[in-house]
Amino acid sequence: MSVFSNCSVSRREVLRAGTALAVTRLVLKPSPGLATPASAYKLSPGRSRAALKGEKGPTTEVWAYDGSVPGPEIRLRQGEPARIVVVNHLEEDTTVHWHGIRLPNAMDGVPGLTQPPIKPGGSFVYAFTPPDAGTFWYHPHADSLQQLGRGLAGALIVEEAEPVQVDRDLLWVLADWRLDADGQIAPGFGNRMEAAMSGRVGNTVTLNGTVPGDQGVRAGERVRLRLVNTSLARIMALRFDGHRPVVVATDGQPCDPHEPDGGRLLLGPAMRIDLIIDMEGEPGSRHAVVDDFYDGLAYELTAFAYAADAPLRKSPLDAPLRLPANPLPQPDLRSAERLELVLQGGMMSGMGGGMMQEMGAMSGGMTHGRAIWSINGTSMTGDGHAGMPPLMTLAQGRSQLVTMRNETAWWHPMHLHGFSFRVIERNGAAVPHNQWADTVLLAPRDTVELAFVADNPGDWMLHCHITDHQTAGLMTVLRVGDGKHKT
Ligand code: C2O
Ligand code: CU
Repeated sequence: MSVFSNCSVSRREVLRAGTALAVTRLVLKPSPGLATPASAYKLSPGRSRAALKGEKGPTTEVWAYDGSVPGPEIRLRQGEPARIVVVNHLEEDTTVHWHGIRLPNAMDGVPGLTQPPIKPGGSFVYAFTPPDAGTFWYHPHADSLQQLGRGLAGALIVEEAEPVQVDRDLLWVLADWRLDADGQIAPGFGNRMEAAMSGRVGNTVTLNGTVPGDQGVRAGERVRLRLVNTSLARIMALRFDGHRPVVVATDGQPCDPHEPDGGRLLLGPAMRIDLIIDMEGEPGSRHAVVDDFYDGLAYELTAFAYAADAPLRKSPLDAPLRLPANPLPQPDLRSAERLELVLQGGMMSGMGGGMMQEMGAMSGGMTHGRAIWSINGTSMTGDGHAGMPPLMTLAQGRSQLVTMRNETAWWHPMHLHGFSFRVIERNGAAVPHNQWADTVLLAPRDTVELAFVADNPGDWMLHCHITDHQTAGLMTVLRVGDGKHKT
């Protein structure tokens, strides 16, 4: 079993040493930040070192944007043009995908399919106007297993013109790493056995680039907490002991504010959740944040550590929780085109002994582009490349009603590029709270119904965001329009 290197020693030290001070300073800041408007960014992926285990641990050799893990937090304004120049300092091709942003196909960052790959030493200018405010992220779409698994990922926040009223706007970029005894990234990306199961789940979880200590909070404050899971494969199920977080957005898109079922927040790779939390604990108290997704492997991710200060206010802030709506086109279910996507493959999928035998023979082997998974019987492998034929063509402007069936024995966070879709039904039951997503998590044997308007022309990737599954065949392309969208 993997062991978590959560160091409770340094946590306690942090708590004793600096929390109270840090909290006071933070709370005194004016409410969250519409930082400097920044519509021009430069981003350089390259080799770097990161203190994943904190100041005292060994540093880890990583690949990072601008030398930092996670990459710089990019803040854009809704409806304002942005320009991001990416200069490749890696020794291999790369691209950047702006995960969840509804943008022109040519800016989507899929090598071969939407742009030529950025060569070492080369650059590419991404220019787009984000239509939706919310919590998004960016990552490479080339050699994804290694580039994402070695640290290339960052948050992209699109600010609302009129944000909800909170005392602080917090961002937790969560990442999962497989580190060896020396604290270095373990080799063995693309292991075929893992690719047929839950993917490369690691042994060290970081929050904003380091194994987390406690998070200082103050009684009575209201925080907006943006969660981003940038892991290659780790699914998380978070519980906030002693608190009642309210979900206000999923994958950046506002929903009806609601408390999650059983207080448990499922966050698969690539998914985001925006929460609003009233800090109702006692001054000086400590409350764990636990991830208990994998059976028998629950661990404390971090904790809220309350400063001793008197509560900021006596009762929770009396201000609305609902985020302003984004300009999403509403699908018309009655006139919608219907399509069905069936996910198959992997271990224990009822394919008989063949897979098992092959797994035995291949164990320890690499995927090398051979398919283990399929969508509607076809498998695209790798990261996207020139000439990928679309699985189907959708009429531009039409509403689409998609039934997605997971016939495998594994979980899959399925991501569609270029669109946000409404999650209508899960296993025949209506999904409440008006939830939209760009990445929907399917449990084994789940069937979901999704709807969106195919208003954005181009060839769009649809794939599992467990990166081993994607590269081993759980990927396809949907074409919207006549395919003559190229700009
Ligand atoms: Cu974040 Cu093609 O993915
Ligand atoms: Cu998957």
